[in-house]
Amino acid sequence: MSMGPSLALLNACLNATTGVCIFLAWRAIRAGRVVAVHRRLMLTGFTLSCVFLVSYATRIVMFGNTHFRHEGAIRYAYYFLLITHVILAMVTVPLVLRTLFLALKQRFEEHRRIARITFPIWLYVCVTGVLVYLALYQF
Ligand code: HEM
Repeated sequence: MSMGPSLALLNACLNATTGVCIFLAWRAIRAGRVVAVHRRLMLTGFTLSCVFLVSYATRIVMFGNTHFRHEGAIRYAYYFLLITHVILAMVTVPLVLRTLFLALKQRFEEHRRIARITFPIWLYVCVTGVLVYLALYQF
């Protein structure tokens, strides 16, 4: 496998792992109110996302964009996935930073309020990131 697709695979794995981390973090706070586990997993998800951003930028700079090769209705489904993924990925950055900031400042009331918006959007971005990878490289 050449460098471009390997980096894309790495990025998809980072996306998937982030998704699993934040989902488990959400479950920890919802089910058992286990703050320590919630904190640890969210911070892990955040770190993985930072690594992802660096790795993603590296791939784009080195190899450019990849194009979807199929025609017809499936192409529109792909564009829907891609466009919602990209727009919400940009929205996620300030949301995650704000959510994290409030948690680290122990302003948990405000943290919870914004986090209920941040979490589903962030999870959507992780899942669709993996789906975009699959559509481009495995489909
Ligand atoms: C960006 C990362 C984070 C996200 C997306 C996030 C997400 C969430 C969500 C969705 C809830 C609300 C669950 C609900 O009741 O529906 C929550 C609650 C909470 N989170 Fe986070 N969290 C993050 C980081 C942290 C960190 C680093 C801490 C550190 C201690 C933390 C501590 C808490 C606490 C104590 C609550 C309960 C708040 C309350 O019910 O008053 N979170 N978080």
